[in-house]
Amino acid sequence: MALLEVKNLGISFGGLRAVDDFSLTIEQGELYGLIGPNGAGKTTIFNLLTGVYKPTDGYIMLDGENITGKKTIEINRHGIARTFQNIRLFSELTVLDNVKVGLHNHHPYSTLTGILRLPKYYKVEKEMNERAMELLKVFDLDQEADYKASNLPYGKQRKLEIARALATDPKLLLLDEPAAGMNPNETQELMKTIRFVRDEFHMTILLIEHDMKLVSGICERLTVLNFGQILAEGETTEVLNDPKVIAAYLGE
Ligand SMILES: Nc1ncnc2c1ncn2[C@@H]1O[C@H](COP(=O)(O)OP(=O)(O)OP(=O)(O)O)[C@@H](O)[C@H]1O
Ligand SMILES: [Mg+2]
Repeated sequence: MALLEVKNLGISFGGLRAVDDFSLTIEQGELYGLIGPNGAGKTTIFNLLTGVYKPTDGYIMLDGENITGKKTIEINRHGIARTFQNIRLFSELTVLDNVKVGLHNHHPYSTLTGILRLPKYYKVEKEMNERAMELLKVFDLDQEADYKASNLPYGKQRKLEIARALATDPKLLLLDEPAAGMNPNETQELMKTIRFVRDEFHMTILLIEHDMKLVSGICERLTVLNFGQILAEGETTEVLNDPKVIAAYLGE
Protein backbone atom coordinates (compact mmCIF):
# COMPACT_ATOMS: atom_id res chain seq x y z
CA MET A 1 0.00 0.00 0.00
CA ALA A 2 1.27 3.47 -0.92
CA LEU A 3 1.87 5.93 1.92
CA LEU A 4 0.09 8.74 0.09
CA GLU A 5 -2.56 8.28 -2.52
CA VAL A 6 -4.16 11.37 -4.04
CA LYS A 7 -6.84 10.96 -6.70
CA ASN A 8 -8.41 13.55 -9.00
CA LEU A 9 -7.91 16.42 -6.54
CA GLY A 10 -9.31 19.80 -7.53
CA ILE A 11 -10.03 23.28 -6.18
CA SER A 12 -11.13 26.60 -7.70
CA PHE A 13 -10.72 30.13 -6.41
CA GLY A 14 -13.52 32.12 -8.03
CA GLY A 15 -13.12 31.45 -11.74
CA LEU A 16 -9.55 30.16 -11.39
CA ARG A 17 -9.07 26.39 -11.48
CA ALA A 18 -5.92 26.40 -9.29
CA VAL A 19 -5.60 22.59 -9.13
CA ASP A 20 -7.36 20.29 -11.56
CA ASP A 21 -7.55 16.48 -11.69
CA PHE A 22 -4.36 16.04 -9.68
CA SER A 23 -3.34 12.49 -8.80
CA LEU A 24 -0.20 11.32 -7.03
CA THR A 25 1.03 8.14 -5.38
CA ILE A 26 4.06 8.15 -3.10
CA GLU A 27 5.59 5.04 -1.57
CA GLN A 28 6.99 4.88 1.98
CA GLY A 29 10.58 6.21 2.05
CA GLU A 30 10.41 7.99 -1.32
CA LEU A 31 11.88 11.42 -1.97
CA TYR A 32 9.44 12.92 -4.46
CA GLY A 33 9.59 16.31 -6.19
CA LEU A 34 6.78 18.65 -7.21
CA ILE A 35 7.98 21.31 -9.63
CA GLY A 36 6.56 23.85 -12.07
CA PRO A 37 6.41 27.56 -12.90
CA ASN A 38 5.26 30.27 -10.48
CA GLY A 39 1.54 30.09 -9.88
CA ALA A 40 1.28 26.50 -11.17
CA GLY A 41 -0.57 25.38 -8.02
CA LYS A 42 2.21 23.68 -6.04
CA THR A 43 1.65 25.41 -2.69
CA THR A 44 -2.12 25.03 -3.17
CA ILE A 45 -1.56 21.26 -3.32
CA PHE A 46 0.30 21.42 0.03
CA ASN A 47 -2.59 23.47 1.42
CA LEU A 48 -5.02 20.80 0.22
CA LEU A 49 -2.91 17.97 1.66
CA THR A 50 -2.68 19.69 5.05
CA GLY A 51 -6.33 20.75 5.37
CA VAL A 52 -5.78 24.50 4.93
CA TYR A 53 -8.17 24.25 1.95
CA LYS A 54 -10.86 21.65 1.39
CA PRO A 55 -10.83 20.13 -2.09
CA THR A 56 -13.95 20.44 -4.20
CA ASP A 57 -13.08 17.19 -5.99
CA GLY A 58 -11.06 14.07 -5.31
CA TYR A 59 -9.70 12.40 -2.21
CA ILE A 60 -6.51 12.02 -0.16
CA MET A 61 -5.51 8.76 1.53
CA LEU A 62 -2.63 8.64 4.00
CA ASP A 63 -1.43 5.21 5.06
CA GLY A 64 -4.80 3.70 4.15
CA GLU A 65 -6.92 6.34 5.91
CA ASN A 66 -9.10 8.85 4.14
CA ILE A 67 -8.04 12.30 5.40
CA THR A 68 -9.94 14.38 2.81
CA GLY A 69 -11.56 17.46 4.34
CA LYS A 70 -10.09 16.92 7.83
CA LYS A 71 -8.82 19.87 9.87
CA THR A 72 -5.14 20.88 9.83
CA ILE A 73 -4.45 19.69 13.39
CA GLU A 74 -6.14 16.33 12.75
CA ILE A 75 -4.11 15.84 9.58
CA ASN A 76 -0.95 16.64 11.51
CA ARG A 77 -1.92 14.00 14.07
CA HIS A 78 -2.51 11.55 11.23
CA GLY A 79 1.08 12.14 10.20
CA ILE A 80 1.59 15.00 7.72
CA ALA A 81 3.95 17.83 8.71
CA ARG A 82 5.13 20.70 6.56
CA THR A 83 7.36 23.72 6.23
CA PHE A 84 6.21 26.94 4.56
CA GLN A 85 7.35 28.84 1.50
CA ASN A 86 7.92 31.89 3.70
CA ILE A 87 9.57 30.90 6.98
CA ARG A 88 7.07 30.74 9.83
CA LEU A 89 9.06 30.39 13.02
CA PHE A 90 8.14 31.82 16.40
CA SER A 91 10.83 34.45 16.03
CA GLU A 92 10.74 35.59 19.67
CA LEU A 93 11.06 32.05 21.06
CA THR A 94 14.36 30.24 21.44
CA VAL A 95 15.54 27.67 18.92
CA LEU A 96 14.81 24.91 21.49
CA ASP A 97 11.30 26.19 22.22
CA ASN A 98 10.46 26.32 18.51
CA VAL A 99 11.10 22.58 18.29
CA LYS A 100 9.20 21.98 21.55
CA VAL A 101 6.11 23.64 20.06
CA GLY A 102 6.04 20.77 17.57
CA LEU A 103 6.42 18.22 20.37
CA HIS A 104 3.67 19.84 22.48
CA ASN A 105 1.23 19.49 19.59
CA HIS A 106 1.84 15.80 19.67
CA HIS A 107 2.39 14.81 23.31
CA PRO A 108 0.18 17.18 25.25
CA TYR A 109 -0.36 17.01 28.96
CA SER A 110 -3.58 18.52 30.29
CA THR A 111 -3.68 22.29 30.83
CA LEU A 112 -4.24 21.63 34.54
CA THR A 113 -1.07 19.52 34.73
CA GLY A 114 0.80 22.44 33.18
CA ILE A 115 -0.70 25.14 35.38
CA LEU A 116 -0.31 23.19 38.62
CA ARG A 117 3.15 21.96 37.63
CA LEU A 118 2.18 18.39 38.61
CA PRO A 119 4.97 15.74 38.60
CA LYS A 120 3.85 14.62 35.14
CA TYR A 121 4.62 18.13 33.86
CA TYR A 122 8.29 17.91 34.87
CA LYS A 123 8.64 14.38 33.52
CA VAL A 124 7.13 15.28 30.14
CA GLU A 125 9.09 18.55 29.95
CA LYS A 126 12.36 16.71 30.62
CA GLU A 127 11.59 14.15 27.91
CA MET A 128 10.66 16.93 25.49
CA ASN A 129 13.90 18.81 26.16
CA GLU A 130 15.90 15.67 25.48
CA ARG A 131 13.99 14.85 22.31
CA ALA A 132 14.22 18.46 21.06
CA MET A 133 17.99 18.53 21.70
CA GLU A 134 18.40 15.26 19.77
CA LEU A 135 16.61 16.80 16.81
CA LEU A 136 18.67 19.99 17.02
CA LYS A 137 21.87 17.87 16.96
CA VAL A 138 20.74 16.24 13.70
CA PHE A 139 20.50 19.71 12.16
CA ASP A 140 23.69 20.94 13.80
CA LEU A 141 21.71 23.53 15.75
CA ASP A 142 22.31 22.25 19.29
CA GLN A 143 24.96 24.91 20.01
CA GLU A 144 22.37 27.59 19.25
CA ALA A 145 19.54 26.02 21.31
CA ASP A 146 19.19 29.11 23.53
CA TYR A 147 19.41 31.70 20.74
CA LYS A 148 16.33 33.60 19.70
CA ALA A 149 15.12 32.01 16.44
CA SER A 150 15.22 35.38 14.66
CA ASN A 151 18.95 35.69 15.47
CA LEU A 152 19.85 32.60 13.44
CA PRO A 153 21.25 33.04 9.93
CA TYR A 154 18.69 32.43 7.19
CA GLY A 155 19.93 28.96 6.20
CA LYS A 156 19.74 27.80 9.81
CA GLN A 157 16.20 29.17 10.20
CA ARG A 158 15.18 26.99 7.26
CA LYS A 159 16.77 23.97 8.96
CA LEU A 160 15.03 24.81 12.24
CA GLU A 161 11.68 24.77 10.41
CA ILE A 162 12.40 21.23 9.24
CA ALA A 163 13.46 20.17 12.76
CA ARG A 164 10.20 21.58 14.15
CA ALA A 165 8.13 19.75 11.53
CA LEU A 166 9.92 16.49 12.38
CA ALA A 167 9.18 16.98 16.08
CA THR A 168 5.58 15.97 15.38
CA ASP A 169 6.93 12.57 14.29
CA PRO A 170 5.26 12.62 10.87
CA LYS A 171 4.90 9.85 8.31
CA LEU A 172 5.11 12.35 5.46
CA LEU A 173 7.13 15.56 5.41
CA LEU A 174 6.18 18.35 2.97
CA LEU A 175 8.88 20.92 2.18
CA ASP A 176 7.83 24.06 0.30
CA GLU A 177 10.90 25.55 -1.43
CA PRO A 178 13.33 24.84 1.41
CA ALA A 179 16.29 26.21 -0.58
CA ALA A 180 14.62 29.53 -1.45
CA GLY A 181 16.95 32.40 -0.58
CA MET A 182 19.87 30.11 0.30
CA ASN A 183 23.39 30.58 -1.02
CA PRO A 184 25.02 27.64 -2.90
CA ASN A 185 26.86 26.39 0.20
CA GLU A 186 23.69 26.45 2.28
CA THR A 187 21.81 24.63 -0.50
CA GLN A 188 24.52 21.98 -0.67
CA GLU A 189 24.26 21.45 3.09
CA LEU A 190 20.48 21.35 2.93
CA MET A 191 20.69 18.64 0.29
CA LYS A 192 22.76 16.50 2.66
CA THR A 193 20.34 17.18 5.51
CA ILE A 194 17.28 16.15 3.47
CA ARG A 195 19.00 12.93 2.39
CA PHE A 196 19.99 12.25 5.99
CA VAL A 197 16.41 12.76 7.20
CA ARG A 198 15.14 10.31 4.60
CA ASP A 199 17.82 7.71 5.27
CA GLU A 200 18.05 7.93 9.08
CA PHE A 201 14.41 8.68 9.88
CA HIS A 202 13.10 6.53 7.00
CA MET A 203 11.04 9.61 6.17
CA THR A 204 8.86 10.00 3.11
CA ILE A 205 9.37 13.48 1.66
CA LEU A 206 7.46 15.54 -0.89
CA LEU A 207 9.50 18.52 -1.99
CA ILE A 208 8.50 21.67 -3.88
CA GLU A 209 11.60 23.32 -5.32
CA HIS A 210 12.77 25.65 -8.09
CA ASP A 211 16.46 24.81 -7.64
CA MET A 212 16.98 22.12 -10.30
CA LYS A 213 20.37 21.10 -8.88
CA LEU A 214 18.68 20.20 -5.64
CA VAL A 215 15.75 18.49 -7.39
CA SER A 216 17.92 16.38 -9.67
CA GLY A 217 20.34 15.66 -6.81
CA ILE A 218 17.82 14.18 -4.39
CA CYS A 219 14.44 13.37 -5.97
CA GLU A 220 13.80 9.92 -7.37
CA ARG A 221 10.54 10.82 -9.08
CA LEU A 222 8.89 14.08 -10.08
CA THR A 223 5.58 15.57 -11.05
CA VAL A 224 5.58 18.76 -13.13
CA LEU A 225 2.59 21.01 -12.65
CA ASN A 226 1.52 23.70 -15.12
CA PHE A 227 -1.63 25.85 -14.84
CA GLY A 228 -2.92 23.52 -12.09
CA GLN A 229 -2.59 20.38 -14.21
CA ILE A 230 -0.03 17.61 -14.46
CA LEU A 231 2.28 18.24 -17.40
CA ALA A 232 4.60 15.28 -16.84
CA GLU A 233 5.51 12.72 -14.19
CA GLY A 234 7.98 9.89 -13.71
CA GLU A 235 11.69 9.24 -13.09
CA THR A 236 13.59 12.48 -12.44
CA THR A 237 16.04 12.27 -15.36
CA GLU A 238 13.32 11.36 -17.84
CA VAL A 239 11.06 14.19 -16.71
CA LEU A 240 13.82 16.80 -16.75
CA ASN A 241 14.70 15.80 -20.32
CA ASP A 242 11.08 15.75 -21.52
CA PRO A 243 10.80 18.33 -24.34
CA LYS A 244 7.39 19.56 -23.16
CA VAL A 245 8.79 20.19 -19.65
CA ILE A 246 11.74 22.06 -21.13
CA ALA A 247 9.40 24.10 -23.34
CA ALA A 248 6.91 25.00 -20.59
CA TYR A 249 9.23 25.46 -17.63
CA LEU A 250 12.94 24.68 -17.76
CA GLY A 251 13.64 26.60 -20.96
CA GLU A 252 12.22 29.82 -19.45
N1 LIG B 1 -6.44 31.67 -1.33
C1 LIG B 1 -6.38 31.95 -2.63
N2 LIG B 1 -7.31 32.75 -3.23
C2 LIG B 1 -7.26 33.04 -4.56
N3 LIG B 1 -6.31 32.57 -5.38
C3 LIG B 1 -5.37 31.78 -4.86
C4 LIG B 1 -5.34 31.43 -3.46
N4 LIG B 1 -4.26 30.64 -3.24
C5 LIG B 1 -3.65 30.49 -4.43
N5 LIG B 1 -4.30 31.17 -5.39
C6 LIG B 1 -3.95 31.23 -6.82
O1 LIG B 1 -3.78 29.88 -7.27
C7 LIG B 1 -2.69 29.79 -8.19
C8 LIG B 1 -1.69 28.81 -7.70
O2 LIG B 1 -0.98 29.39 -6.60
P1 LIG B 1 0.15 28.63 -5.80
O3 LIG B 1 0.55 29.50 -4.66
O4 LIG B 1 -0.34 27.26 -5.46
O5 LIG B 1 1.31 28.53 -6.88
P2 LIG B 1 2.78 27.92 -6.74
O6 LIG B 1 2.91 26.86 -7.78
O7 LIG B 1 3.05 27.54 -5.33
O8 LIG B 1 3.69 29.14 -7.19
P3 LIG B 1 5.12 29.69 -6.63
O9 LIG B 1 6.17 28.85 -7.30
O10 LIG B 1 5.16 31.10 -7.08
O11 LIG B 1 5.11 29.56 -5.15
C9 LIG B 1 -2.18 31.21 -8.38
O12 LIG B 1 -2.77 31.78 -9.50
C10 LIG B 1 -2.61 31.90 -7.09
O13 LIG B 1 -2.76 33.29 -7.28
MG1 LIG C 1 4.34 28.20 -3.90
